[in-house]
Amino acid sequence: MIKKAFLTICAAGALIPAHGQNSSNTKTYTIAANQVKAHIQPTMYGIFFEDINMAADGGVYAELIKNRSFEFAMPLAAWKIQKKDGGTGAIEVINRSAERPENPHYIKVNVKSDDGYGLSNEGFRGMGVKEGEEYSFSLFAKQESDNNVKLSVELRGTDGAIIGKAELLPTDKEWKRYSVKFKSAATVQKAQLYVWLSGKGIIDMDMISLFPEHTWKNRPGGLRADLVQKLADLKPGFLRFPGGCIVEGRELSNRYQWKKSIGDIDKRENIINRWNTEFKHRLTPDYYQTFGLGFMEYFLTAEDIGASPLPILNCGMACQFNTAEMVSVNDLDPYIQDALDLIEFANGDASTKWGKLRTDLGHPAPFNLKMLGVGNEQWGEQYIERWKIFTKAIKDKYPSIKIVSSVGPDPDGERFDLLNTTFRGLNADILDEHYYRSPKWFLDNARRYDNYDRKGPKIFAGEYAAQSVATGSPDNKNNWDCALAEAAFITGLERNADVVNMASYAPLFAHVEGWQWTPDLIWFDNLKSYGTPNYYVQQLFSVNKGTDVVPLTQNNDAVAGQDGCYATACLDNNTHELIIKFVNSTTSAQNVSFNITGSAGYQKQATITTLQSDNGNAENSLEKPNAVSPVQRTITVNGHTLKVNIEPRSFKVIRLKNK
Ligand code: AHR
Repeated sequence: MIKKAFLTICAAGALIPAHGQNSSNTKTYTIAANQVKAHIQPTMYGIFFEDINMAADGGVYAELIKNRSFEFAMPLAAWKIQKKDGGTGAIEVINRSAERPENPHYIKVNVKSDDGYGLSNEGFRGMGVKEGEEYSFSLFAKQESDNNVKLSVELRGTDGAIIGKAELLPTDKEWKRYSVKFKSAATVQKAQLYVWLSGKGIIDMDMISLFPEHTWKNRPGGLRADLVQKLADLKPGFLRFPGGCIVEGRELSNRYQWKKSIGDIDKRENIINRWNTEFKHRLTPDYYQTFGLGFMEYFLTAEDIGASPLPILNCGMACQFNTAEMVSVNDLDPYIQDALDLIEFANGDASTKWGKLRTDLGHPAPFNLKMLGVGNEQWGEQYIERWKIFTKAIKDKYPSIKIVSSVGPDPDGERFDLLNTTFRGLNADILDEHYYRSPKWFLDNARRYDNYDRKGPKIFAGEYAAQSVATGSPDNKNNWDCALAEAAFITGLERNADVVNMASYAPLFAHVEGWQWTPDLIWFDNLKSYGTPNYYVQQLFSVNKGTDVVPLTQNNDAVAGQDGCYATACLDNNTHELIIKFVNSTTSAQNVSFNITGSAGYQKQATITTLQSDNGNAENSLEKPNAVSPVQRTITVNGHTLKVNIEPRSFKVIRLKNK
């Protein structure tokens, strides 16, 4: 959301800031509005989704019950046996792996008293529920005895008070799904669900679930609407999914397998989340993957928010930071088949096996998949060897699919050099560069792409974020210093849009109580969420992307760090505007003057959107979500010169409408 504010306008149309010391000289920049240097791809600014930091289960996937199908290593984790009024009973965990290998566990409850025996679920750090909203409770159940066991479901607030309830009587002696809806009478951050069982007898239960009725697009069993809205508000050009290292797995056995993530949710095999055990300082023993947010949901979400889908697939290699386990090249076929089948699933018509499945799942139209990642953050000769086999197989069958290739975890060094050189030699389509570096690195690298080969592979800045302390440090903050350094760097991406076709901040989401990695773009608890200053930087670039880069220079040189300033300009051929983006990374205000050539002139009213804080440590929070957020003003433009006073530590986007 952009705040509106008033401003003082001087006679020449310059902005006078309310605060900040001006540096004495006015800096003059030239914009050649008729010299298009590069086209900006619609994909330029996108999002990177990975189920890290409880982004999917416990986050955007709106399921409120944790361990709903008893597949955690401790099958009753997150559940507690409850007794009242002398109630008695017994719970057994049954393993039926021969019959249902993908969903082996369920519970058999022997209810020995007429009433007062049951179990409760703690949710993901509690359950966020809202007053007046409807919730759908469901389960798979099977009565074992003639006497039907009845369920009384209670939603309880933090103080134990009942804030919603419903009753359900499963009647069948075969497995069947039952559901009932009820409203919550209160808004509670950490509610719990109690399931009381009455009537002596034995009942089998599985897939015990509680979902808000209100989800993104109100899809049953869907996604948290507020979180998807935050993504939609970024107007992303692409959605990269499902990661990230989660693609690779710590071991190959827990790699992401897309085919296991589609179809009936009770048939999606649950596995441990690889981030569960990754960091000793942030162990998350209750982090598993239900795949309720699976590939169909990823494709649908991408479509909903107007983003090109970009799936990343395992290339036969587990995470090289962990086990580095890999399959022999002779055993790559199933991995390659997964890639070919995914393309058919996304784009094939109903006459194809996988296109038919997509149609049967309710989406006859293709998803228009154009690109695919082979491996996540791989490196070394072993990757190159596997990449060649993968690429040949994909290109032979689907020559127009663009392949995204990793150039390793670092933006330089031996691993990078090997892959960068090799893949350029092999005419790779798109290279996926990652940089988790200091804010200074981002400021210093605004010219990184100025000298890249214009005819070589396109660049995807696939994962990046300024790290305030150190890469992977749990003390990293999403502060304004980092966000501003990223903004400075992104001007360099945009200036080189002929080479850089895509960019995404990473990671995307973090639960304030369930995270493993920081910094992250969007933070949330069970009820609310906020965009970081970094989020607003991404948003301002994305919604002001434009279509064509034009030169913005100072003494015939790109503005990439001189006096701490960074800038880029582009045209928007759809809205007929000139868009200037300007970063002042210094602690002094700057008087700047833009002389615009090659244009017939501009309308009197222009808009300036400012993201600013005097405090480099400033952060947003659940309590103060807009501490650093965009403020929009209008200014009057006179002729071809625009004089603007740029506040210290600020990022501005100026839009001038053609006459
Ligand atoms: O974004 C967090 C992790 O950083 C990603 O999973 C991985 O690709 C990179 O190392």
